Amino acid sequence: MLLLPIISLYCQILLQLIGGALTLKDVTVTIPQAANIGDTITLQCHYDLEEEPLYTVKWYKGDREFFRYIPKELPSTQVFPYLGMDIDIGKSTPNSVVLRNVQQNMTGRYGCEVSTDAPNFYTIQDKAYMFIVQTPMGEPEVFIEKELYEINYVLRGNCSSPISYPAMNLTWYLNGKKEPESFKTTVPTTDSVGEKRRPASTIIGLETEVDSSTFKSGKMVLRCRAEFFNLYQSYAEVSLEEEKPRPRPSSVLGTRDASSGSRLPRALFMISYVILVAIVMR
Ligand SMILES: *[C@@H]1O[C@H](CO)[C@@H](O)[C@H](O)[C@H]1NC(C)=O
Ligand SMILES: *[C@@H]1O[C@H](CO)[C@@H](O)[C@H](O)[C@H]1NC(C)=O
Ligand SMILES: *[C@@H]1O[C@H](CO)[C@@H](O)[C@H](O)[C@H]1NC(C)=O
Repeated sequence: MLLLPIISLYCQILLQLIGGALTLKDVTVTIPQAANIGDTITLQCHYDLEEEPLYTVKWYKGDREFFRYIPKELPSTQVFPYLGMDIDIGKSTPNSVVLRNVQQNMTGRYGCEVSTDAPNFYTIQDKAYMFIVQTPMGEPEVFIEKELYEINYVLRGNCSSPISYPAMNLTWYLNGKKEPESFKTTVPTTDSVGEKRRPASTIIGLETEVDSSTFKSGKMVLRCRAEFFNLYQSYAEVSLEEEKPRPRPSSVLGTRDASSGSRLPRALFMISYVILVAIVMR
């Protein structure tokens, strides 16, 4: 009969369609965003096979494969030395690779590629970036135009960070509240010209009008916080004072007159008042 093979083929297609709902999925690379030179790092790759047979898990840095896990072969792991990577094979698993003593040139994008076996041969990849850094030394520094401020004056200043690669993040806080920066630049070190990864300092500016709510009992605290991933954190702080508006000359005379009672000081103050006015008038 001709009908039987047709029914059989139809069933096969139907099964494949239903089976298609079950497939390799959720391939995810989990690595630290940043680590120090010399650290031991575990690169993790999670995946859901959904009953598909696993064929390989391949690890890449950029386009270069450096580690392969093949459960059906013996040994089940293969390493392809690259950048002097020190791979701890004993600690590596179907879901992870352990890199010992990482170096700066291992900074880059790491990919994990999972493939299933026959009959479907699914392949899915995920990638993530990792910085291998030298924890920066030093503290951020704050420069401000002046230390006394009257209401409605514009507070101007800069904050510069210690040098790092990549350049770190700086944030202003005025009395504990985040304050937007007026500008942000990174200044690479001059001796790193031509280098692929140039260490740099971050500089941010501040330009904000001081109003009556800025001062708490005549003071405000300006802080610049420097952050470098979860590896370094520091801040610089300055305390600024409110400059009371200069009392008007007439009130000076008034108080002075009342406290002294003598006529001489009054005369003196009349003179200084005139001199002051003369200076102001010129
Ligand atoms: C990567 O850096 C390490 C340590 O500085 C060095 O020994 C190695 O030769 C470098 N590899 C390449 C390919 O630059
Ligand atoms: C802040 O930096 C800018 C640009 O480098 C400079 O022109 C300005 O004088 C600096 N201001 C202060 C208060 O240091
Ligand atoms: C700076 O902040 C951004 C955004 O929060 C973050 O993605 C980045 O990793 C930070 N850079 C450093 C060097 O900490």
